[in-house]
Amino acid sequence: ATQRTFSMIKPDATKRNLTGKINAKLEEAGLRIIAQKRVHLTPAQAGQFYAVHKDRPFYGELVEFMSSGPIVAQVLEGEDAVAKNREVMGATNPAEAADGTIRKDFALSIGENSVHGSDGPDTAAEEISFFFSGLELVG
Ligand code: CMP
Repeated sequence: ATQRTFSMIKPDATKRNLTGKINAKLEEAGLRIIAQKRVHLTPAQAGQFYAVHKDRPFYGELVEFMSSGPIVAQVLEGEDAVAKNREVMGATNPAEAADGTIRKDFALSIGENSVHGSDGPDTAAEEISFFFSGLELVG
């Protein structure tokens, strides 16, 4: 079924001017970018977005990195968009990502891994509403 998911282009990728190349991969996979904005998160905002990871050893590093430069927040729409986006992103660790995926081609490390994508439809709805109002979703 047609579904929506949340995607974020991370600071390592915006810094290297890779927004267009990443968007091309998303679109080639059949995902439509129905909302998009560039935002520089404060550490507090990054910490709130990743609150689910607050007890993990990498949380401090994650918050610092995600607030170190601009991100591009996006809503993607398409058939099975959550799974399709995770497929085109590739594994969290770029060393394990399949050929042709965003992380294989662009990610620098497990932390600086170029993109985030929702892990399920419920998370997608929460993450979309963290960044966007209904008016900003233009399908
Ligand atoms: P993301 O999908 O955005 O969700 C949580 C992020 O934490 C993940 O991608 C990684 O970038 C990051 N992460 C996971 N494991 C580690 C790690 N061992 N060290 C640093 N960052 C990590």
